[in-house]
Amino acid sequence: MKKELKNTNGLYPSLTTLVGTVVEGKVNFLTIAHVGIMDMKQISVSLNKSHYSNAGIRQNKTFSVNIPCVDQVCKTDYCGLVSGKSVEKASVFSVFYGTLKTAPMIQECPVTMECRLVKTIDFPSHDVFIGEIAGTYCDEAILTDGKIDAGKLHPLLFVMHDTSYWTLGEPYAKAWDIGKRERKHRG
Ligand SMILES: Cc1cc2nc3c(=O)[nH]c(=O)nc-3n(C[C@H](O)[C@H](O)[C@H](O)COP(=O)(O)O)c2cc1C
Repeated sequence: MKKELKNTNGLYPSLTTLVGTVVEGKVNFLTIAHVGIMDMKQISVSLNKSHYSNAGIRQNKTFSVNIPCVDQVCKTDYCGLVSGKSVEKASVFSVFYGTLKTAPMIQECPVTMECRLVKTIDFPSHDVFIGEIAGTYCDEAILTDGKIDAGKLHPLLFVMHDTSYWTLGEPYAKAWDIGKRERKHRG
């Protein structure tokens, strides 16, 4: 028996990220759970138009997407509680830059990406910024054979239904592999 939950967005958990911008010369970070993968090199962040960060992305045509780990939950939540309009958030984290000089990245985050703005989709309430990944920087400690190891990353997952941060569980099965059993079964 199914219960209809009107038009509830059921697409959670999603990954919790911190988006870095420079707004009027000031570094700013905000917390974003509405992130998307457009293709292997392009990602999207959906920002409510009321946020301070949007102007920085428009001004510089760059932004960063940083993946905090569980140790940074307090600072991550703080960046989603207060606005750069009234609070200075530059000193919350240590900042570094890659090739793009206006996409501040977070030293404490195990994975960071600097992005070049390629497209903005103008929704009534949100700006969806699509960025091409110009550089990805990872802590060596979370790599296995040179690849990001989700088991070492300890990302924060966000669930809107109970407004909680969750942690990642164990690997369950191999993709593009476990389904071969079904393929065999179906002949
Ligand atoms: C866990 C979490 C996830 C959030 N996800 C989003 C999001 O996907 N899009 C959005 O516009 N705001 C999101 N927010 C709210 C912004 O982070 C928050 O309003 C922030 O203060 C805006 O900062 P700014 O005004 O300095 O840009 C989220 C907040 C939290 C705590």
